[in-house]
Amino acid sequence: MNAANPNDENTTASGEGWSEDMELAPVHPGDRAPEAEGDREGERLQKVLARAGVGSRRVSEDMIEAGRISVNGAVVQVQGMRVDPTRDKIAVDGVRLEIRDDRVTYALNKPPGVITAMSDDRNRPTVGDMVGDLAPGLVHVGRLDQDTEGLLLLTTDGELAHRLAHPSYGVRKTYLAQVSGSVPRDLAKRLRGGIELDDGPVKVDSFRVVDTHAGQSVVEVVLHEGRKHIVRRLLAEVGLPVSRLTRTAVGPIELRAMRSGTIRKLSRQELGALSELVGL
Ligand code: URA
Repeated sequence: MNAANPNDENTTASGEGWSEDMELAPVHPGDRAPEAEGDREGERLQKVLARAGVGSRRVSEDMIEAGRISVNGAVVQVQGMRVDPTRDKIAVDGVRLEIRDDRVTYALNKPPGVITAMSDDRNRPTVGDMVGDLAPGLVHVGRLDQDTEGLLLLTTDGELAHRLAHPSYGVRKTYLAQVSGSVPRDLAKRLRGGIELDDGPVKVDSFRVVDTHAGQSVVEVVLHEGRKHIVRRLLAEVGLPVSRLTRTAVGPIELRAMRSGTIRKLSRQELGALSELVGL
């Protein structure tokens, strides 16, 4: 297992800068309108943009001039506007950007065998061991079973953690499951309609077969449930016991090519998209 280390080659702690080609989240149209200049304290917008890696102050001024920057849903018309990075929602080309520096969120590719806890009194390996002292106050967002691998978010932002994990916010989690047995044709429909489990019904947001070979299939399940062992129980209930389970995405954040045991800091664009998704 690789110890978490932002300076490690395996640790893609990049993600800080602005890149035109990243996938970005739209700004919510109902966002608060900016207050008139002079009504507020705060920092100059171009300074905040420059610190967030959007571009130098000069480049940021040009972007403001070109109408590419909005604050709380309204395109900025004037130079020198003051913003409060802890409250205001800033978007570049309509795409929300996290500008706060006082909170941090990481993605970990949790290996199987590691328990989702910051410490363990039985000395089993934990995600806490993997993140070490990366940031004080990190908490894991929801849980993965000990045997489940894949994307686990960790954040210092308690409210973000709560909203991402709570089913009422509807954040979709995507899993790839290796199952034995053949997948009935009507299964997607049944799963979308709801399956009764011991602790109540569960519905998936989507289901598809990714691959089938020699009596084994790989299926993708998307759902916004947080109940214990939910994917394993659901698939076992429909006759498809799971032999391997990997979470590949949480909302817009994807595991992609992260190697098992590595950790990376989310970019400002990824954080903007997550915050937008849960109304922060
Ligand atoms: N569902 C499961 O069965 N296990 C997990 O770790 C996550 C979702």
